[in-house]
Amino acid sequence: MEKARNVAVIVGSLRKDSINRKVANALIEVAPAALKPAIIEIGQLPIYNQDEDSSPPAAWTGFRERIKSADAVLFVTPEHNRSVPAALKNAIDVGSRPYGASAWNGKPAAVVSASPGAIGGFGANHHLRQSLVFLNVPTMAQPEAYLGHADKLFDAGGKLVNDGTRKFLQDFMQAFAAWAAANAKS
Ligand SMILES: Cc1cc2nc3c(=O)[nH]c(=O)nc-3n(C[C@H](O)[C@H](O)[C@H](O)COP(=O)(O)O)c2cc1C
Repeated sequence: MEKARNVAVIVGSLRKDSINRKVANALIEVAPAALKPAIIEIGQLPIYNQDEDSSPPAAWTGFRERIKSADAVLFVTPEHNRSVPAALKNAIDVGSRPYGASAWNGKPAAVVSASPGAIGGFGANHHLRQSLVFLNVPTMAQPEAYLGHADKLFDAGGKLVNDGTRKFLQDFMQAFAAWAAANAKS
């Protein structure tokens, strides 16, 4: 069997009880053996400031190295004011610099968005895709994943309560494994 691909899972929420973190954990749980997903934290990243490119904070360089060493990236994000949460946009910006050395370049990716609202973070999902186009990140088109009413999907222990959603997430990760293999950098 081919070696499992390391997947950097980026959660767009910093909230302790985040729905999106629960979704990320569920995606990790149902991932096929071809993928080895693990959450890479973004809450510790200082706000990007180009003045610090010549002497970057250790949190930036550590994050860039973790992304560079991953074979693929899975974004799981809420929507803030119909767009990408600031913490996630900051992580995108930090990873994209210094100019010419973006950690994101060419990494196969997928996007999942989740919200208690009906449209499942569609705006954030697509604003994120706009940045990923610019960053040359081949992002899986189908299946799309906008999880609406996502606050109802988990029990008090953070476990998925809905078999239909579990199957959907399983199929999503199978498709992502195929996408990561087809778009592998090396
Ligand atoms: C600043 C802010 C803006 C928000 N804007 C939206 C929005 O545009 N669309 C939406 O569906 N939910 C919005 N919400 C509600 C979030 O979907 C909700 O807080 C959700 O639980 C966040 O995801 P998390 O549980 O993973 O942190 C917003 C929440 C905050 C704090």
